[in-house]
Amino acid sequence: MELFRNKLNKNKIPKHVAIIMDGNGRWAEKHGNARVFGHKQGVESVRSTVEGAGEIGIEHLTLYAFSTENWERPKYEIEALMSLLIFAIESETESLMKNNVRLSTIGDLNKMPGSVRTKLNSCINTLQSNTGLNLILALSYSSKWEITEAVKKIVEESKSGKLNPDDINDKLFEKYLSTADLPDPELLIRTSGEFRISNFLLWQIAYSELYFTEKLWPDFRKEDLFRAIFDYQNRERRFGKTSEQLIS
Ligand code: FPP
Repeated sequence: MELFRNKLNKNKIPKHVAIIMDGNGRWAEKHGNARVFGHKQGVESVRSTVEGAGEIGIEHLTLYAFSTENWERPKYEIEALMSLLIFAIESETESLMKNNVRLSTIGDLNKMPGSVRTKLNSCINTLQSNTGLNLILALSYSSKWEITEAVKKIVEESKSGKLNPDDINDKLFEKYLSTADLPDPELLIRTSGEFRISNFLLWQIAYSELYFTEKLWPDFRKEDLFRAIFDYQNRERRFGKTSEQLIS
């Protein structure tokens, strides 16, 4: 079997890939286990995907780990996810270090338990001088929250005179998003056969290629990432132009 990794065009690796990791609960149910078991298995998929992303030179990988809406889940599932996050951050820091990975977050981190924030900050500090893949965890994140926050800041700065409202345009607006320093993802992947965006990076994916796979997140491995990138590399990105314009 020829591997997708070997088929990739090294000059066309996306700089930024975003993933909606979905299907943990269904994976667990399929295996006759509690939903939390699926989340646990999902950490293995995160490890393989992060490794694979680093190996082929992706610069930024954003993982949707916990949405604003996920706070509505049963309390025990939220608590299990938070404990798992703490455990995963702690146990993965060494291998992230070895793989030269940096860590950052987007989302309403103030909503996260102090214990998770402490672990995250310590991991972020340990990895801050690394120069390889930038791993971005979206935690307590939703796009509508992010856009609303940006609007609030812009209004405040306009009122105080720091910002001239005449200067507001899309380029300025994106400086107020939590992804201000990142290029937009060229590719968005969603697992588990659902065709939804679920309030993820709505502004940033305006021209992203979307890739959906039936695989449930706990079954996803780096080879699946390479397959998605191979698919992406064989698409024509026109950004509203015609094919002919792209050639000339
Ligand atoms: C969606 O599956 C997944 C989540 C809400 C949590 C994702 C978290 C992890 C993979 C574990 C920790 C992550 C890191 C970054 C270490 P679902 O529960 O919605 O699945 P379902 O649609 O089958 O119910």
